[in-house]
Amino acid sequence: MKIYNRLSLLLIIFSVFLSCESKNLDTSKKDIIEDPIENKIDSILSKMSLEEKIGQTAQRGKSSRVKELPADLKEAVRKGQIGSFLNIMNKNDAKELQRIAVEESPSKIPLIFARDVIHGFKTIFPIPLGQAASFNPLLVKEGSRVAAIEASTSGIRWTFAPMLDISRDPRWGRIAESAGEDPYLTSVMAEAYIKGFQGEDLSSPTSMAACAKHFIGYGAAEGGRDYNTANINENLLHNTYLKPFKKAVEAGSATFMTSFNELNGVPASANKYILKDILRDEWGFDGFVVSDWNSIIEMVNHGFAKDEKEAAEKSINAMLDMEMTSTSYHDHLKQLINEGKFSEKQLDTIVKNILRIKLRLGLFENPYFDPNDAILYDKKHLASAQETATESTVLLKNKNNLLPLNSKNKLAIIGPLANAPHEQLGTWTFDGEKEHTITPLKSFQQDDQYTIQYSEGLSYSRDKSTDGFGNAIKAAKSSDVILFFAGEEAILSGEAHSRASINLPGGQEDLITELHKTGKPIVLIVMAGRPITLGNIIDKVDAVLMAWHPGTMGGPALKNIITGKVSPSGKLPITWPKEVGQIPIHYNHKNTGRPVIPEEFVYMDSIPIAAWQSSLGNTSHYLDAGFLPQYPFGYGLSYSNFRYADVSISSTSPKIGDTITVKAMITNTGKIKAKETVQLYFRDMVGSLTRPVKELLRFKKVTLEAGASKEVIFNFSTDDLAFYGPDKIWVTEPGDFKLWVSKHSMDEANELEFTLE
Ligand code: NOJ
Repeated sequence: MKIYNRLSLLLIIFSVFLSCESKNLDTSKKDIIEDPIENKIDSILSKMSLEEKIGQTAQRGKSSRVKELPADLKEAVRKGQIGSFLNIMNKNDAKELQRIAVEESPSKIPLIFARDVIHGFKTIFPIPLGQAASFNPLLVKEGSRVAAIEASTSGIRWTFAPMLDISRDPRWGRIAESAGEDPYLTSVMAEAYIKGFQGEDLSSPTSMAACAKHFIGYGAAEGGRDYNTANINENLLHNTYLKPFKKAVEAGSATFMTSFNELNGVPASANKYILKDILRDEWGFDGFVVSDWNSIIEMVNHGFAKDEKEAAEKSINAMLDMEMTSTSYHDHLKQLINEGKFSEKQLDTIVKNILRIKLRLGLFENPYFDPNDAILYDKKHLASAQETATESTVLLKNKNNLLPLNSKNKLAIIGPLANAPHEQLGTWTFDGEKEHTITPLKSFQQDDQYTIQYSEGLSYSRDKSTDGFGNAIKAAKSSDVILFFAGEEAILSGEAHSRASINLPGGQEDLITELHKTGKPIVLIVMAGRPITLGNIIDKVDAVLMAWHPGTMGGPALKNIITGKVSPSGKLPITWPKEVGQIPIHYNHKNTGRPVIPEEFVYMDSIPIAAWQSSLGNTSHYLDAGFLPQYPFGYGLSYSNFRYADVSISSTSPKIGDTITVKAMITNTGKIKAKETVQLYFRDMVGSLTRPVKELLRFKKVTLEAGASKEVIFNFSTDDLAFYGPDKIWVTEPGDFKLWVSKHSMDEANELEFTLE
């Protein structure tokens, strides 16, 4: 009886197992069969010739400066030899190319038109580094939605953004396009951009496919020189550089772009480890990957391929789907397949990736756009750009509460960026128009409450002429306060625009020095694509506002801050160095075996002559620049003050898998309504790999009326404390942790501890 029972039990278990298995099989089959997009892909692919398949991998285009469309391109589209275009901004050209593709090409596959819509299309938002300073992902999402509406109604359904390269080097010009140095902040911004660009539904005509770029390591370019070598060890790669890209996959980014650089000796555009093992196999990305401009054939220069054919072979075998501008796939893929160096079956996978995104975008149903439908510079778009510019602005210094100014002040508006509508738009603004841009000068002039004298002093940021100094000084002398709009022209940051010195260029420091001699207080407003080293002038100015390149609505945003209509609330998304020699500099560094002991530190000029070799103590610092940045990551002042109190943790001995809650009561103790970004940092005290001294874990931006309090609650799981360890897996290791609820990355006033069991 017992045996019978056992047998029947086993039989039951076995049959349940079988039925589950077959159900599983059934479901997975059903899933595949019922996914209409996968069905369509198969049906399209089955009718495509090898030439057409290769055609889908080709992205052609022209530099934004070239106006005429080369004639041979139409014929190539007719033959099915092109899958995508970039920078086709003539609406008739775009329409005609699409018509040829969907009506005359063999498989009638629509083209996908791409463009660098990085921080706005026509309505330009602050540069991404500025947007990160807002610490407000909702605004970032709104801004990329606006960009998508403006660009998609102008025919662009694919943007080459967001750029998610972590950078710890402000010499690198492209830091302007990044969200700065922190992997968590960049991940939050990644999600916001992608959701904004792509909208709720990728097939909506106002959605744009996002492109997470540059995969990977581009921001780690040696010496901050663009395109340079990146050497990133595997742990750093996973714990820092890859994180935002993983988030991009989770947020549904339709496409990825490879980077120009080599990573540990293997150019990114042929790097199987990152393109296949990580992106596809580990993260399950099912969109497509485009190369950067000529980055496949540049592998010949890298010394990684002997010619373009070998470059194509290496990239295609790494499963890089689409080639931007160069033609090595077009020229060699067929032969590579004939030679058995790549199979048509593998090519099918690549073509499927591309068709999948075209289908998800609804391009087969709606290949065209109507130029008359373009929605540009809508009032709401401008308001959104202004709000983002406002929240991106960071108040770095405010001696004697000089800011905000009152309306009775007579103002001298000086400096090369006070009225430079093109420059304040920043890098990557092919479509932004200076005619629609409101400068700070214009904003002040439009308001008759203020008495203003304007004298630019220098006519552009690199201007070294002192001819305008006299008038500027005269204006300053007859005013109460000097508003000095300094910075970099747009062309000084962005791609290939790295700088070895990041001081204010041209004669700006000299002019500030002269103005300082007038004894009038100076508000320095910086518009630049990167932090600017201020050592030579910081003591000569009374207040500093970092406005980045603030975009179309930078003028009104800054005027409202300067005059106190709104309190500044931006926080630095990057550590601000005192001088270039401190770079790379970032808050989440390791402790080293000899961390700095501030009390024992001796500056170079204080060293006694003929001092004994080891008399200074041996810690990790510079004798001349010390060990502190000018301003830390997360730093930014307000016109108000905030009290942090009642900081608590849900458990001081949580277990792996638990959710941990940290609370703090934040009170606006000032006299005006203001916003505060409350930041939660942690440190894993001991690890099987050394851990950074601090890592941003969460942040929350709260708005508080004067005198009001709000409880800020952070929840996180122990998985959020994990790191990619020596065993090449993600681990959360039990042990001691510290937490800080902070105003910025160096604020340790509110410390908590817990031991993970
Ligand atoms: C090169 C840049 O690196 C990339 O970011 C950009 O999207 C492409 N050119 C296309 O303009």
